[in-house]
Amino acid sequence: MSELPNLTVLDHPLIQHKITVLRDRETSTKKFKELVDEISMLMAYEATKDLALEEVEIETPLERTRQMKLRGKKLTVVPILRAGLGMVDGILSLIPSARVGHIGLYRDHDTLEPVDYYFKIPPDPEARDFIVLDPMLATGGSAAAAVQSLKSRGAARIRFMCLVAAPEGVRRMLEAHPDVPVFTAALDRQLNEQGYILPGLGDAGDRLFGTR
Ligand code: PRP
Ligand code: URA
Repeated sequence: MSELPNLTVLDHPLIQHKITVLRDRETSTKKFKELVDEISMLMAYEATKDLALEEVEIETPLERTRQMKLRGKKLTVVPILRAGLGMVDGILSLIPSARVGHIGLYRDHDTLEPVDYYFKIPPDPEARDFIVLDPMLATGGSAAAAVQSLKSRGAARIRFMCLVAAPEGVRRMLEAHPDVPVFTAALDRQLNEQGYILPGLGDAGDRLFGTR
């Protein structure tokens, strides 16, 4: 994607298969949550592959040795409420020591602009790597606002991870936050007039939590 240099599409065959089942309108709420867990875990492995390491000295049962460990404070995942919550468990199953912040945002149905209602992250944001989580990157308004909130508190190393992205949202992230890599499992065609991703999977929050 040369015109979207911020984007990485993680299209491993297992991820593609699971995304197809996720999109299917017949997929139950229970299955939907399980798939979001599984896909998020697979994606997290790839999305963290360039985390910085540092050399540490340890003692094996046989001798002292210098080996590599992740550098700095604990990685922090930040789900955008509410649908981003669905991605947390899968990532914690891979990185159990990760910290979890929360950003509450909802998209106004008329303006499609994000409205924020909650923000809580661990201390020392400048010393952490963050992964902002939201299954859907549609207009990009929510993602851009969440990243801006983190930056205004001092966060400098931020990635964004979603399951389905629209080109419009990836472009908005590129314009607003060119320093933030975007990882998605699928890059879809376009948005419809209501700001839904096509072909998409519908309303991720409703499908995760069975609210429709
Ligand atoms: C959905 C989704 C994203 C946002 C994406 O959330 O989970 O947060 O829309 O759209 P955007 O890229 O155009 O901002 P929604 O506002 O429906 O809230 P919910 O998670 O509480 O259902
Ligand atoms: N939010 C969703 O949940 N789905 C979309 O397609 C767009 C925004």
